[in-house]
Amino acid sequence: MKKQEREEKLLQSVQELGAEIIDSERFRAAEAIPHHLAGNVAQHSLNVARESCRIAEWLNRHGAKVDVKDAVRGSLLHDIGMTEKEVFRSPSWKKAYSHPDRGAKLAREEYRANDVQEDAVRRHMWPICLIPPKHAAGWIVSAADKICSIKEILHR
Ligand SMILES: [Fe+2]
Ligand SMILES: [Fe+2]
Repeated sequence: MKKQEREEKLLQSVQELGAEIIDSERFRAAEAIPHHLAGNVAQHSLNVARESCRIAEWLNRHGAKVDVKDAVRGSLLHDIGMTEKEVFRSPSWKKAYSHPDRGAKLAREEYRANDVQEDAVRRHMWPICLIPPKHAAGWIVSAADKICSIKEILHR
C-alpha cells in the first residue's frame, strides 16, 4: 500500500472510531483554541489520533491486543480540558497540570469515556505529571502526543 493510501486509511479509521467526538460542539469549539504547536487544539488532537491509530495497528500486527478505538478516542479527548475557559485562560505552566484532570472529567461526563479512555486523558502528560498511564492505549496516547508535538514544532 502506498504511503498516501495508508494515511487516508488511518484518517478514515479515526473519523469512524471518533465520529461522536469529532462531530461534537465542544470539539468543534476546540478549533478556535490556539495550540502553541499545531495551530489549534482540534487539529492537534486529530494529529495525535492518527498517530495513535498508526502505533496501535502496528502493535496489533505484531501480536499485541490494543483496542484501537480506546487509543483513538483517548487521543481525540486528551486535550479536551483546554476547552474550559479557566483552563485556556491560565498561564501555560498551570495549564499543563490542570488540563488532564479537567479533560478526564469532561471525557467521562460528556463523551461516556470508559476507564481506559479516561485514564489515557488523565495521564497523558506523564512524566511532567508523575503518575503514568495504566493501560496500553494510554501509553500510546502519551507517546503519540509527544511524537506529534515534535513533528508540529518541526513543521511550524
Ligand atoms: Fe496535553
Ligand atoms: Fe496534546
